[in-house]
Amino acid sequence: MLFLGIESSCDETAAALVCNGRIVGHQIHRQDHRAFGGVIPQVAAREHLIFLPHVMDALWAESGFCAKDLDGIGVTAGPGLVGGLLVGILWAKGMACRWNKPLWPVHHLEAHALMVRYAHDVPFPYGLLLLSGGHCLMAVVSGVHQYKILGQTYDDAAGECIDKVARALGGPYPGGPFIQQCAEQGDPFAITLPIPLQKERSCSFSFSGLKTACIQWIAKNQAHGPLSESTKADFCASFQRNIAETLCQRLQYAMVDSGLKHWVISGGVASNTYFRARLQDTCQNYGGQLIAPEPEHCTDNGAMIAWAAAEYYAAGQKPDLFFPVRAHWPLDQLEPSQPPIRPL
Ligand code: KG4
Ligand code: ZN
Repeated sequence: MLFLGIESSCDETAAALVCNGRIVGHQIHRQDHRAFGGVIPQVAAREHLIFLPHVMDALWAESGFCAKDLDGIGVTAGPGLVGGLLVGILWAKGMACRWNKPLWPVHHLEAHALMVRYAHDVPFPYGLLLLSGGHCLMAVVSGVHQYKILGQTYDDAAGECIDKVARALGGPYPGGPFIQQCAEQGDPFAITLPIPLQKERSCSFSFSGLKTACIQWIAKNQAHGPLSESTKADFCASFQRNIAETLCQRLQYAMVDSGLKHWVISGGVASNTYFRARLQDTCQNYGGQLIAPEPEHCTDNGAMIAWAAAEYYAAGQKPDLFFPVRAHWPLDQLEPSQPPIRPL
């Protein structure tokens, strides 16, 4: 079975092929929005329009397959930036019509949530900690299109907070890898910063307070000249520790309350080695197991969309050619087709 996945919800133009459960083609064009310090939706959409044809050409050339060989197509239908999503959706719908192939609108967060099953044998139900640029939530994943949200962020996502703090430090966009690298040489206890929602026993998150505290700390300490490399390292290490504290605390509550033993982290922020190690420790301390996709499968990519299409197919989700684009699309609004018919 050969599935194509197309991803264009933010600033990666990506496409991949999954054949019989293995990635057989993987192309990604990462847009460069450093000049703007963040993603400008119109600029991103225009770049998707320019680069998607090249990404597709490279994918066919790399894999040796062609559109006729496909058994199905998945495309990110939301949540995300509408202009970019439309580029991928129109391409996918065009292909589905031309070659008479089944098409599935893929929920971007669900693709992050399911990608772990590409390389690991994780049975449903499992707990999910989803940490991306725009979303931060915990959920119980009971199957394809079956989610129960345990908690989400009241304001910013962890990724958003990391990107804004990196920008205040003069770092590139996206800021995650920059913060991680700076933090490697730093002391995580050197600088006192607030730990988000420390006194709230819930699975909710909040990162705007920490973001503001960090931006103010940077402004104050840079007032008389740039930060030294060692101060920057200490700051980044302390910032990462505070994020990890809140993530680990929420994971601990969720594990105790849900009784679930298998926990999955996913989304771009989950590629951070420090967060992975800290969450792993928490999970082990509470008798559970933390499972994460490979770091390159945590950040946005086409393989997770192709994999989601394969999962949708296996779960008996009905294909659909007439779905809309969805900027906002809560994960718990998905409904499984009944009955699921094809065991994976
Ligand atoms: O899942 P993703 O690729 O895109 C969205 O769906 O939003 O996540 C992007 C986010 C950005 O905020 C980026 O800074 C963050 O993931 N990120 C990281 C790391 N790599 C990417 N955050 C922390 N450490 C990293 N190594
Ligand atoms: Zn994502």
